[in-house]
Amino acid sequence: MSEALQAPRGTRDLLPAETARWAQVEAVLREVYARFGYRELRTPIFEHTELYVRGIGEATDIVGKEMYTFSDRGGRSLTLRPEGTAGVVRSYVEHSLGIGERGEAKLFYLGPMFRYERPQKGRYRQFWQAGAEAIGYADPAADAESIAMLVLALRELGLKGLQADVNSVGDAETRADFRGRLQDFVRGWGGSISNESRARLETNPLRILDSKDPDDADLVAAAPKVTNHLSSRSSAHFAGVLRHLDRMGVPYDVNKKLVRGLDYYSDTVFEVLSSDLGAQSAVAGGGRYDGLVGQFQKQGRPAVGWAIGLDRLTALLEQAGLAPGQAGSQVAVCTLGGAAFGRGLAIAQSLREAGLSVWFDSSGQRGLKNQFKQADAEGCRLAVVLGEDELARGEAALKDMQQGEQAPVALDGLVAEVKRRLS
Ligand code: HAM
Repeated sequence: MSEALQAPRGTRDLLPAETARWAQVEAVLREVYARFGYRELRTPIFEHTELYVRGIGEATDIVGKEMYTFSDRGGRSLTLRPEGTAGVVRSYVEHSLGIGERGEAKLFYLGPMFRYERPQKGRYRQFWQAGAEAIGYADPAADAESIAMLVLALRELGLKGLQADVNSVGDAETRADFRGRLQDFVRGWGGSISNESRARLETNPLRILDSKDPDDADLVAAAPKVTNHLSSRSSAHFAGVLRHLDRMGVPYDVNKKLVRGLDYYSDTVFEVLSSDLGAQSAVAGGGRYDGLVGQFQKQGRPAVGWAIGLDRLTALLEQAGLAPGQAGSQVAVCTLGGAAFGRGLAIAQSLREAGLSVWFDSSGQRGLKNQFKQADAEGCRLAVVLGEDELARGEAALKDMQQGEQAPVALDGLVAEVKRRLS
């Protein structure tokens, strides 16, 4: 097939059979966000490239090799958003969304993100995230609440037994101290090391700990852990987060090897992993980013948040056999004969205006038996049956699709009777 007739590599269509599940996931997430007082923010799908270079970090994989960057006709360098946090922070600053002295805002978003990665199971070039950002909150309680919301959201979606891996990468002071310690270790390392990590030794040594290159596996396993060298402030913060999680009964694991792939993190970082996802095991990730807002305005603001990968989440739901909600119809209008067909269309409209979900054979081509069959497949509980005889009497027949019983009903009171039977 010609390439133009296929979705570009790493992208896919979400077909009607899948979108029912997606819509249900989004509805559950919106409901959980509301429970925690988060409000929706929709930011553009592209931003100035500079936003991501400064926000995510030049030495990260995302900025270094995964961005969809282009110049528009006005010569600006723009980038399809590879993640949501930088855009949310840009919007927060641009519109002064922070409330009160501490500039508080709790914002959520749902939408597609773009990264030029090598496509494989669970890894796409256009993928969807649902994210939540709490800006203006410094207390460890905010980290714990954010993690608790993530774990609860996954549980409400039906995914049991998932828990968060939690770690601390320390504050700026921790990392300034740790940088030298890590560089010394790597310089003295006698085993293998990838060229990329060698290059990062001077520019951004902490990124080495996030390397997935097999040549770095031994080095990463043996390297000192930042969590063992936290400043006293960071150490107290991390202890506070864990204490709050314990108090709320939120299950977690401390994973000292966890470092995240974006430079804006400080202190708490977390991921939710699932072995059912194969190599692409993180269904969600997040953490604290106290330095990010301060890169875009004078007044810095502490913040914490996360994003769930919806492609991976929906794959997990499917694997777990969790069926999406029935997206079918409640009632069918089935007709026999030309006059009944036109009348049926009008009745279907009245039922829809009354708020019901109605299946009607607008092709006009199916026989009555076939209409019943389709109504069944649509999950209809009732069928309004219209023939020429019924019409002449000002009646329809109301058929219970499960029992098969049929009873006459006056057209005058039809809408009310259908609503009564369905309630
Ligand atoms: P992230 O870990 O880069 O974090 O992405 C979050 C989630 O998005 C991942 O756990 C994964 O499920 C999904 N994801 C990432 N890349 C792909 C891909 N190529 N294909 C499919 N799914 C993918 C962030 O993006 C941060 N902005 C999260 C955050 C919010 N931190 C603080 N606030």
